[in-house]
Amino acid sequence: PSAAARRAPDQPPTGDEDGPDLFQDEWFRDPHPTYARLRAECPVRQVRSPGGHEAWIVLGYAEAREALADGRISKDVRAAGHIFARSGRRRDLAPAVSQTMLATDPPDHTRLRGLARAAFTPAAVHRLRPRIRAIAEGLAESMAAEAGPVDLVERFALPLPVTVICELLAVPEADRAALGAWSSRLFLAGQPEVIDEASHQLADYLSELVERRRRQPGDDLLSELIAARDAGDRLSEGELVSLAALLLIAGHETTTNLLGTAVLSLLTHPEQLAWLRADLARLPAAVEELLRHDGPVNVATFRFTTEPVRLAGVDLPADAVVMVSLGAADRDPSRFPEPDRLDLRRRSAGHLAFGHGIHYCLGAPLARAEAEIGLGVLLRRFPGLRLAGPPEEVGWRRSRLMRGPESLFVLTRAEA
Ligand code: HEM
Repeated sequence: PSAAARRAPDQPPTGDEDGPDLFQDEWFRDPHPTYARLRAECPVRQVRSPGGHEAWIVLGYAEAREALADGRISKDVRAAGHIFARSGRRRDLAPAVSQTMLATDPPDHTRLRGLARAAFTPAAVHRLRPRIRAIAEGLAESMAAEAGPVDLVERFALPLPVTVICELLAVPEADRAALGAWSSRLFLAGQPEVIDEASHQLADYLSELVERRRRQPGDDLLSELIAARDAGDRLSEGELVSLAALLLIAGHETTTNLLGTAVLSLLTHPEQLAWLRADLARLPAAVEELLRHDGPVNVATFRFTTEPVRLAGVDLPADAVVMVSLGAADRDPSRFPEPDRLDLRRRSAGHLAFGHGIHYCLGAPLARAEAEIGLGVLLRRFPGLRLAGPPEEVGWRRSRLMRGPESLFVLTRAEA
């Protein structure tokens, strides 16, 4: 008797694996009570799927690490096609946005990740820090001009990472708004037509951009990737476009949610905020706890078993869809005592907000730098920063993969 049975049959791959109370209104607002209940019953559990394929969700910390590191649990979307074909669902994301490292296994994964790795090393990201700070300060300055409530998501959390990744890839300023709209549509729950259309628009745009850069190379990451592609056959044209799309999407959707959730968490935990404000050198550690406590990637992108797998004593058949809930794993009380408590002083290292194993987030150094610098700029510039309305009224995104506030209205001026 699951809500899944009421769903339309043509949902995106992460869309129909509903279990009891997953992906309902209450879950979008706060998934953690549901996770806690389900995890306490069983950390690896089957969820219902009207599509006919078997689907499982992993909620425990140890179990999530095990699943993410298991080579028999694949990410290859092309190989997974038969699972979704069997359930009769449409699956026509533009090929150009589905040939990414995030959707492949070794050896393709190793090759694709290797080509992009240099751009995201800690050293490469260190060089970007002054520019990230300048962008953040400019955005904070424009927020300071508002006397009334201002939406921190629209004015800061979104434009900061978007400007950084668009500058890295040299996306012209005039095109950035359209990119943002396509990118956010890719995460709309239960709207397969919108998702398909946006994926094709994004792929078409990027193919054209690649063509332009090929004719007129610049001093940017996209030009470098094109040079790598044209120097040999290590990267196909489709893979190149896919890589650019992955970086843009990651750059739009993740750090934005982290910044929004982090500011909300800090403003609703005044004693934690005061401790942080007392010494902003505590920011890097604080960012780790904010990632653990309520990270942006709620459920890692789906995986599937290529053969029967025994996971934490539970037998999964071959061709089962596996969703690993990073949000649930990071609140597993057997790994993090009193997991629901935001405690900036705790040792949060080992959290799974960036995933684990070979697909561990390539952009983690960049995301950490953006979060640290962004929060630092906000806290320094706005000593009186506070919410403009009750926290219960914050609207959360309706995405199965990403978690974060849709908008977050704050007041930047000190109380009179
Ligand atoms: C992969 C989280 C920011 C680029 C991942 C994965 C997670 C994640 C959980 C693994 C997904 C899985 O295994 O299914 C985050 C979070 C971010 C963030 C929480 C911000 C707070 C970024 C940024 C970039 C980026 C800014 C680059 C612009 C990537 C790439 C992968 C990835 C390329 C694929 C890695 C692979 O498949 O080997 N991210 N990410 N991420 N992320 Fe991030």
